Amino acid sequence: MLKSERKFPSLPYFWSLIDFKLPSLNPYKGKLDRAQTVSDLAKVAKKRVPKVVFDYVEGSAVDEVSYARSRDAWDRVEFNSKVLRDVSLIDTSEIILGRKVDLPIIFSPTGYTRLMHHVGEPAVANVAFEKNLVYSLSTMGTTSPAELAQAVPGARKWFQLYVMKNRKDSLAVIKQAKDSGFEALILTVDTPVAGLRYRDNRNGLTIPPKIRLNTVLAIARKPIWWLNLFTTGKLEFAAFRGWDKPLSELAGLIFDPSTTFADIKWLKSVWDGPIIVKGIQSVADAKEVAKLGVSGIILSNHGGRQLDRGPVPLEILPEVVKVVGKKVDVYIDGAVMSGLDVLSAIALGAKAVFIGRAYLYGIMADGERGVNKVIELMRRELVNGMALTGARNLKEVRANGAKIRS
Ligand SMILES: Cc1cc2nc3c(=O)[nH]c(=O)nc-3n(C[C@H](O)[C@H](O)[C@H](O)COP(=O)(O)O)c2cc1C
Repeated sequence: MLKSERKFPSLPYFWSLIDFKLPSLNPYKGKLDRAQTVSDLAKVAKKRVPKVVFDYVEGSAVDEVSYARSRDAWDRVEFNSKVLRDVSLIDTSEIILGRKVDLPIIFSPTGYTRLMHHVGEPAVANVAFEKNLVYSLSTMGTTSPAELAQAVPGARKWFQLYVMKNRKDSLAVIKQAKDSGFEALILTVDTPVAGLRYRDNRNGLTIPPKIRLNTVLAIARKPIWWLNLFTTGKLEFAAFRGWDKPLSELAGLIFDPSTTFADIKWLKSVWDGPIIVKGIQSVADAKEVAKLGVSGIILSNHGGRQLDRGPVPLEILPEVVKVVGKKVDVYIDGAVMSGLDVLSAIALGAKAVFIGRAYLYGIMADGERGVNKVIELMRRELVNGMALTGARNLKEVRANGAKIRS
């Protein structure tokens, strides 16, 4: 039997192995540093914000089946892989509305971002700016178009719009976007009425949160979040600041159930920039909207927050790209949580993906740093996936393709 030769321990070698770090004042720092996925960040986020806030982000409509099916579809993607290709240089950039972005990832419009973390919309837009991406501001934002433009003047910004009951109200909001240099409008069309969000109803969610008896307990559990809420600006629909109506009434005016294809024509007559229609859920509607001369469509079920048991965007993506992909840019969203999800969407023909919850988990976990981390985790996985499938750029990713296993 061979015997290992033993030596007297070498002190310098022993010291070189020591990797002690001073404990941080932030009890979550270790977990944040070790996060490998957006789901790891979501676990930290859950600990940092009140349950009602986390549930508002994570939850979807009715039985939350649409969201689960979207998630399942991403997991069923199988890439076509090529080996023995030179993948020493990987280019993840894409041209969107005539300008280059560094990743095919766009920040979705999400309402009330300052509820998730007091830094809110400007922090996300700043990440978009620093990473050369596009940020979309929601009509229900807690930062107004002008405030956003002032806070992050260099960011590429799109504005999300609803056709409101009174078209004059929509015009007033469009004017704010125009005056503040927004590049494109995203028209959300999957909200003729509000989705039924049972989790929020069960949690008694109100915007802004009401101080009730059980809130006192909630404050004790998440004191920092509440301190930030009380010591920063009022939580409100910032685009409607100064309107002489209660917020509850305003919310009722934002969705117009009588909106039709004719309203897209109307929007084209009052906005001379690009229009992207968000919430397309069928090949037939994609065809109809593409005829109206819009720049793009987003296959989306609002992250499952509107119609439950609706079509799964990823499952209709290849057909939609085949039918209208030469006429309009086809984007997709819903449960995009990783760089491999992004790679899947591109391989199946999408121009780019929109992410919602992913960056909200990041902001709830660690403010702007958390959003930054989400993008870096996604970038790392996308680049890695491209190299391992033998694709040097997004054109090659699309050429390689993928299938969705049944
Ligand atoms: C908290 C939250 C708020 C949202 N607010 C809006 C909104 O104001 N307008 C809109 O068009 N979509 C809104 N959405 C939908 C997103 O734009 C996007 O379609 C969806 O989040 C994509 O799914 P994902 O969150 O799983 O990425 C919201 C989504 C979330 C999670």
